[in-house]
Amino acid sequence: MTEYIFDTGSELGHHHLDHLGRMLDGPATWRLQGLGLRPDMRCLELGAGSGSIANWLAGRTREVVAVDLDTSQLDDVAPGVQVIRHDLRDGLGVDGPFDLIHARLVLMHLPERRQILTRLVDALVPGGHLVLGDITERPLEAVAVPEPADRDLWTRMLHLSHDVVSPARGISWAWARQTADAMAAAGLLDVDAMEFSQTVAGGTDGCLLHRNLNQQAEPLLLAAGATADEITHYRELMLDPRFRAWFYQIRYTNGRKPD
Ligand SMILES: C[S@@+](CC[C@H](N)C(=O)[O-])C[C@H]1O[C@@H](n2cnc3c(N)ncnc32)[C@H](O)[C@@H]1O
Repeated sequence: MTEYIFDTGSELGHHHLDHLGRMLDGPATWRLQGLGLRPDMRCLELGAGSGSIANWLAGRTREVVAVDLDTSQLDDVAPGVQVIRHDLRDGLGVDGPFDLIHARLVLMHLPERRQILTRLVDALVPGGHLVLGDITERPLEAVAVPEPADRDLWTRMLHLSHDVVSPARGISWAWARQTADAMAAAGLLDVDAMEFSQTVAGGTDGCLLHRNLNQQAEPLLLAAGATADEITHYRELMLDPRFRAWFYQIRYTNGRKPD
């Protein structure tokens, strides 16, 4: 089993989840709202992180179960959210059935993603919805750089983290585009997808998140061949408002279990 690459319980992990929430909760809640939430629904939020989506669902549905490997950022959840510390590679950690199951940026991290998807489909009520959001392979092009060499540095750090470090830790950048077929093969109907992407500038959430991930993965990046100078310069670049690049594109795929 590969270990999850980041440390959810650390201070960096806390900021990581906050950046994600500020960048992605808008499109996530828009997508979930579009499925038609009801006050009688029972929901499962997997890899719940900071609990921002679990809390949002709790205000609109009957019950939310929030599962994470590390629940240390889930101390202060809304009434109606039940928190369970559990490793999804060992099953769901809670009995179904659920009307709605949501996982954002979780299955792409887990090599067992296809088995987990089968378990998620089993845990849905007839007519229940599965919603999975993961990062696509879209290249993260720099659109403005302070110095021409910064473009090469950006490309090199992305290459080391995406093509060298991530695959060694079980991360799949292809999963987001494979999810729809996997859902259909698992018997879900009305399989549908949307993508969200935006440009981000140095010093704002998107670049602060890149900087944060670089800090969390520093030993792995150094082992992959990054130099200390490159890492220092890259982190300065992520604070520089003259730098702008495309942020990770998120693809949300949803499907419905037959009635
Ligand atoms: C990239 S974060 C995403 C957090 C949240 N879903 C969001 O989008 O803001 C991945 C989350 O999955 C959790 N996680 C990673 N591996 C896990 C596993 N094997 N079982 C349960 N949770 C896991 C991490 O602790 C972390 O909270």
